[in-house]
Amino acid sequence: MSLPYTQEMLDSVKKVEATRAARMQTELRRMTADEKDDVLQKFHPDYKMDGFEILQMGPNKGEKAPAELAALLQGKSRLDGKEISLQNPDYDVDVLVIGGGGAGSSAAVEAHAAGAKVMIVTKLRLGDANTMMAEGGIQAADKENDSPAQHYLDAMGGGHFTNVPELLQKLVTEGPSAVNWLDHLGVMFDKDENGRMITTHGGGTSRKRMHAAKDYSGADIMRTLRDEVLNRQIPVVDFTAVVELVKDSEGKAAGAVLMNMETKEVYVARAKTVIIATGGAGRMHYQGFPTSNHYGATADGLVLAYRAGARLLYQDTLQYHPTGVAFPAQIFGALVTEKVRSMGAQFVNREGEAYMHPLETRDVSAASVIRECRERGKGVQTPLGQGVWLDSPMIDEIHGKGMLEKRLPGMLRMFGKYDIDMREVPILIYPTLHYQNGGIRISADGMTDVENLYVAGEAVGGIHGRNRLMGNSLLDIIVFGRSAGQHAAAKAKSVEVKDLTIDFVKEFEHEEEEAGIHSSILSPQLLPDYRPEGMKTI
Ligand code: FUM
Repeated sequence: MSLPYTQEMLDSVKKVEATRAARMQTELRRMTADEKDDVLQKFHPDYKMDGFEILQMGPNKGEKAPAELAALLQGKSRLDGKEISLQNPDYDVDVLVIGGGGAGSSAAVEAHAAGAKVMIVTKLRLGDANTMMAEGGIQAADKENDSPAQHYLDAMGGGHFTNVPELLQKLVTEGPSAVNWLDHLGVMFDKDENGRMITTHGGGTSRKRMHAAKDYSGADIMRTLRDEVLNRQIPVVDFTAVVELVKDSEGKAAGAVLMNMETKEVYVARAKTVIIATGGAGRMHYQGFPTSNHYGATADGLVLAYRAGARLLYQDTLQYHPTGVAFPAQIFGALVTEKVRSMGAQFVNREGEAYMHPLETRDVSAASVIRECRERGKGVQTPLGQGVWLDSPMIDEIHGKGMLEKRLPGMLRMFGKYDIDMREVPILIYPTLHYQNGGIRISADGMTDVENLYVAGEAVGGIHGRNRLMGNSLLDIIVFGRSAGQHAAAKAKSVEVKDLTIDFVKEFEHEEEEAGIHSSILSPQLLPDYRPEGMKTI
């Protein structure tokens, strides 16, 4: 095995090793509120105004959005004037769930349990989603020294006091029962010899409330939920995207227009209620960042809902995970779970200095990594840019030999494939686009501004305010996924769908013309396009 680090990296590793023992004896101080504000404003990508545009039309007209998202929100319908026959739908269900990740699956399971006729439509396969890629864990205040109130305060502080109070309250109060539900469904949570859940800290948590299944928590949760969907024989229409929502003549959500991803054939689904659970937007690569996200994370739900008249909330705030892989290039941008820092690894710069506390909130940590590289000149050069060290060998030093392998087997394997043994040498990281903090505005029952249109999971905006804490996303897909399924199923019982229509799409296009927007960008995007510019028309 030969370590692929450059000479410059190896020289810097020596400095990291030389300072390790002393660093381990020193308590790193937390930043003050003023220091945090300062680093965020100067270095966090959310504050870089040239990455944003002002929306010219639609429910959030006059507000800013990432430029790439604005182009899709004000883009052109994939139906492109095509006449769609709506009167004899191909599918007719009570609850239509759009998206086959953790939130969609939780919603479908609960709607099915409530007796509704449910169908999932997903543009890839059931389980191809960000949930599958989540690593570090799920928060829930279920230990004696903790409480939902404590969890609420941590998340509210992390979100800069912008979280929608009733959504956050629901998240934290239903946290313990969500984890209990997953435990009973068969998620293999880390437990001690007495069968008690092992819990750790995440950035910004005042109590150890992170429950994990090693470092593939999301994959195990998704495995369990997928089994539950399949065991219940809930129909899944896969490799089929939703390209527009459908309403009825009273303006209520009443189904969707579907498109087979391969044949491009179009189908219509009528539904009494619709749940959007389409996940995040990392594959939009806002401001040129790499991403930790799944291939299908292209903000589709936001586009569908916006065109149908639903307001977005905090669409201008993204989460850049501080520790994406900076080296080697083959896994550039992949997630290095925050659990590595929860277990003691420090951020260390080129000179071997631990320049900040390892568990500040994510936005502050990401901005500080960027500052270390861009302003202070203390980053380590890589073939694709710069990075700082995560001093991973500290983990076994702190907890004893074998602990890194036991709790972080996925990380060990990911770097090991490239001959980097993170038990022996530190690893290089830089921020990666990880999470869409904002999304579609909902009330506590999960409904949007459009009647009978619900949202759950990463497509929701407001639960986490302008910055989410680690582990609150796996929690929200369960809490809000289950709740949306229950509410949508209950509502469906009293819904009588009137004549179907997609006239609202024409009205939206008319509004675009009036705003002087003549876009040729088809939206929703559905998949990223990595072809070089000149080849995109092929
Ligand atoms: O770092 C992580 O494992 C990511 C967790 C999260 O986004 O909640």
